[in-house]
Amino acid sequence: MWTFSISAGELPVGYAYCWLLGKTEGIRINDICIRDDIPVIRSPLLTFIRSLFHLPVQYHDFRRRGIGTALLRAIVATAKANGYRRVLGEVKSHDRQRFVGLPDWYFRNGFQVMREGGRILIACETSLPV
Ligand SMILES: CC(C)(COP(=O)(O)OP(=O)(O)OC[C@H]1O[C@@H](n2cnc3c(N)ncnc32)[C@H](O)[C@@H]1OP(=O)(O)O)[C@@H](O)C(=O)NCCC(=O)NCCS
Repeated sequence: MWTFSISAGELPVGYAYCWLLGKTEGIRINDICIRDDIPVIRSPLLTFIRSLFHLPVQYHDFRRRGIGTALLRAIVATAKANGYRRVLGEVKSHDRQRFVGLPDWYFRNGFQVMREGGRILIACETSLPV
């Protein structure tokens, strides 16, 4: 398995896990995520005061800044550099419920999007010579 992770200082920004199926089959993206749930911690005192007044927790949101696109490109480039012919994946319905544009996001990033029964599969050739 390959693990990709992105951080900004000590903050975890995003990650991807990919299974290596084989050079011909390619690699499968098992999970890709850019975080929007890292609590903003300014100082212990401020955190305490905010909790006293039941102020809502604020979160760092790293989404919609092009980081996911860069991560996806890095996955495809790494697959290609290591001799894997394609990158595969599946858009699960629970992910799509939260982000209906997910299949389009993959399509804009060079992936084929295929509907198979109720499933949405994605695939990207790494353009290795046959
Ligand atoms: C899917 C995901 C990885 C995209 O990462 P990202 O860094 O937000 O993506 P980018 O900034 O590169 O996205 C660029 C485009 O997607 C759109 N987009 C990204 N996330 C979106 C969201 N949650 N809702 C609507 N649009 C979204 C942006 O508006 C942008 O569109 P534009 O360039 O036309 O303006 C991220 O939204 C995520 O982690 N989602 C939760 C986990 C998930 O669904 N993973 C996919 C499993 S298949």
